[in-house]
Amino acid sequence: MISEKLGKFELNKAYSGDCIELTKKLPSDSIDLIVTSPPYADTVSYGNKVKVFNPDDYVDWFLDLSKQTHRVLKPSGSFILNINDKAKNGERSTYVFELVYKIAKETGLKLFDRYIWYKKSALPMTGEKRLNDRVEYIFHFVKDSKKFKTYTDRIREPYKEISLKRFKNKVHGNDIVLPDGTTKLSQRGSSKPHPLGTKPTTVFRFDTCSALRGLEHPAPFHPQLPAFFVNWLTDEKDVVLDPFIGGGTVAEVCMKMNRNFIGFDINKKYVEITEKRLKKTFSESSKKTSIKKVTDFC
Ligand SMILES: C[S@@+](CC[C@H](N)C(=O)[O-])C[C@H]1O[C@@H](n2cnc3c(N)ncnc32)[C@H](O)[C@@H]1O
Repeated sequence: MISEKLGKFELNKAYSGDCIELTKKLPSDSIDLIVTSPPYADTVSYGNKVKVFNPDDYVDWFLDLSKQTHRVLKPSGSFILNINDKAKNGERSTYVFELVYKIAKETGLKLFDRYIWYKKSALPMTGEKRLNDRVEYIFHFVKDSKKFKTYTDRIREPYKEISLKRFKNKVHGNDIVLPDGTTKLSQRGSSKPHPLGTKPTTVFRFDTCSALRGLEHPAPFHPQLPAFFVNWLTDEKDVVLDPFIGGGTVAEVCMKMNRNFIGFDINKKYVEITEKRLKKTFSESSKKTSIKKVTDFC
C-alpha cells in the first residue's frame, strides 16, 4: 500500500475516533469524494460506547460534519450521502428532509441530485396499513455545481430494445403544448443512440451480494454503491473519505479501484475489522489488479 500523507493522516488507513474531530484535522480542499452511510437516527447500536441519535438531535450533529465536509472537499469533488428514515408510532420521521434542507441552506454544499436505492429484498413491514418499504435515499451534494467532475461515459449501460426501436422509428420525445392548451406529439428529429449506451437512471438496483455475507459489522455498505460513485466521480489516485468507515467497504472498493482512501470510525473494533478485511483481500498479487467494472464487486 502507498503511504503518502494528507495533513497528519497517512493515506489508505482507517483511524479510530469521532469523525467530526478527525475531519477538522484534514486540510481544506483536499478530498475528491466523500461517500458514506452514517448511523441513521434511532437505529442499530454500533457498540455500547457509540451514541445513537434520536431524530430531534440528529440534524444539528450532522450539520457540524457537513460544514467540515464542505471545507475539505475540492471544488471538483462530490459528497454522496446514503441515509434513511424510520416509521415509528404511526408516523414516518421527517429528519432526513430537514437535514437535506439545512445542508443545502447552511453549509455551502449544493444538492446536485437525489437518488433512490431500490432494495431487491427487504423484510416485510408489520401492520396492516403500511406498505413494504424497499428504498433508501442517496443524496449527491457538491461544493461547486460547475466545477465538480463526472465521467458519465464510464457508467453508460446498454439501451433497452424498446429505446432502440424508438430511435429508429423517430417515435416522439415529449409532448408539445400548443397555444390552446392541447398537446401534439413531437418527433425526435435526428437524435441517435449514444455509441457507448444510455445513462443509468436515478434509481439504483444493486445485485444481491455474496460480499455482504460473513462481515463482522451490523450494517455494511453494499459494495456496488460506493463502487458506482467512485467510478463515476473520481480518477485513479484520487482521495476518497468515508467518515463512518464501519467494516471497511469503501476502503476495500478504493483499493480495488486504485484510489486512495481515508476512513474514520468511533468504534476501535470496526477499525480493526477494516484492517483485517484489507489484509485478507489484498494478497501481494491481487494488489496489482485494478477493478473498473462496478458489477465485479459481487
Ligand atoms: C452504517 S455504519 C457504516 C458502515 C460502512 N459503510 C460499511 O460498509 O461497513 C455507521 C458507522 O458509523 C460509526 N460511527 C458512529 N458515530 C460515529 C462518529 N461520531 N464518528 C465516527 N464514526 C461513527 C459506527 O461505529 C458505524 O460503524
